[in-house]
Amino acid sequence: MNNNFNIVDKFNSDNILIIDFGSQFTQLIARRVREEGVFCQIVPYNKVSEYLTTNTPKGIILSGGPSSVLGIETPRIQKEIIEMRRPILGICYGQQVLVQQLGGSVVSSNTSEFGRANIKVISSCSLTDRVWEIGKKYQVWMSHGDSVVKMPKGFDAVAETEGAAYAVIANEESKQYGVQFHPEVVHTLEGKKIIHNFVKIISACKNTWSMESFLDYKIDIIKGQVGEEKVLCGLSGGVDSSVTAAILDKAIGDQLVCVFVDHGLLRGGEAEEINTIFSKRLGSRFIYVQASKIFLEALQGVSDPEKKRKIIGNKFIEVFEAEAKKLGDIKFLAQGTLYPDVIESVSFSGGPSVTIKSHHNVGGLPEKMNLKLVEPLRELFKDEVRVLGDELGLPINLIARHPFPGPGLAIRIPGTITNDSIVTLQKADNIFIEEIRNANLYDKIWQAFCVLLPVKSVGVMGDSRSYDKALVLRAITSVDGMTAEVYPFEHSFLNRVSTRIVNEVKGINRVTYDITSKPPGTIEWE
Ligand code: XMP
Repeated sequence: MNNNFNIVDKFNSDNILIIDFGSQFTQLIARRVREEGVFCQIVPYNKVSEYLTTNTPKGIILSGGPSSVLGIETPRIQKEIIEMRRPILGICYGQQVLVQQLGGSVVSSNTSEFGRANIKVISSCSLTDRVWEIGKKYQVWMSHGDSVVKMPKGFDAVAETEGAAYAVIANEESKQYGVQFHPEVVHTLEGKKIIHNFVKIISACKNTWSMESFLDYKIDIIKGQVGEEKVLCGLSGGVDSSVTAAILDKAIGDQLVCVFVDHGLLRGGEAEEINTIFSKRLGSRFIYVQASKIFLEALQGVSDPEKKRKIIGNKFIEVFEAEAKKLGDIKFLAQGTLYPDVIESVSFSGGPSVTIKSHHNVGGLPEKMNLKLVEPLRELFKDEVRVLGDELGLPINLIARHPFPGPGLAIRIPGTITNDSIVTLQKADNIFIEEIRNANLYDKIWQAFCVLLPVKSVGVMGDSRSYDKALVLRAITSVDGMTAEVYPFEHSFLNRVSTRIVNEVKGINRVTYDITSKPPGTIEWE
């Protein structure tokens, strides 16, 4: 039977199920499990039956969540999960719901605990074995209002905090554990080891998940899926589409054709780099479409950010489709969809979410051209994709590259776009990135780039007056781009970048640093 959670005999035997109750940290739990070399899937609490039709997890982790078990009709653990008699680890809300369903009780506490807390260990159990010592205190990270006040039968108290008498509880016989804190966040200093104990020792999962094993498995799957048919892959030059192309090349060789649409809005030197790398790898199966003129003409005089995005998205589909038609009968389109795009998140807010920005991708294409999708990276997180890219022999500067938006520099030039403004921005951006690399900061920053403002200001250069554009530097740290912190550069670094840009790039006489986090700002300016 086919469902959204179908995977693999190969990884299914050592698979951890993470039941999502809507915690903002659920993906972090999955990251930690994968770091142990074990495959896991995140499944919304109300889709567990579907998952169980094709999967048998060796252990189950219950995530936290914003609900209170004291409310009416709040999410519950499905009966089949408890009846499976597999090891269970409940985290925060997961602990509370486990306790309540097994006959213990939970109350709304007087003292909520948020942030760092000290936990005192009072007895031992397999979950904390070789991690914590009895009588000692350790730092954990808490975020809860409700607390367990009575444990279900068969459980022992293992550790306590000021606000939670049952911060860790264990039933060693049934291999059920509950923790009030969040072991998946880095502020719980020994959290990684606790997850290791649950996954490797208690659930006895073996190391079957590595990018090497994934590659072999995926190649078989792709061959089975596409048979003798041709596959078309849209290359953007980003990590995801590059790795998708490389894996398909390995799996089906001559049946793959890659199309790279150069819309003229890439970072300086990027189009040439992609051209060199992929022409060498794919020869005539790599098609470079020089379409800058088409895009620039369509964007002429347009300053509204949403209009720019829509124009670029539509033109992209047009150009791509025209190229694809020349190739004849194609049945499959390959896309670099990643696991975070696939996970159905549990939403408690209700109602549709507001569109902040309409993201550009080739989303409209498959239906329009009647193509079936090949998405070889659907099970992977971004950092796993990078490891896979390395395994496939892609150059490091390509796989470690900062994310880049589909509409490219068009959304980094507020107002109307001209050829000159693109060139000016590319030059400034190259200097900023070069200085970041020279200072060994590139891998510490999630994304860094420049924004060229349509604002002119007066300056003085030598003895003359200048009246030129202002440039913004933006550099952030982030986990997934959903939230972001500003990177705290030294002032001397910023001074150096500013001096170089004003001296070396004609048309810019002022440089500023954007110190807005996300939220309330977004990462890009448009
Ligand atoms: P924002 O500006 O929404 O950006 O905070 C979050 C992340 O998404 C990237 N981004 C895009 N990526 N198509 C993409 O493929 C787009 O249309 C797009 N818009 C923004 C942005 O660079 C950041 O990494």
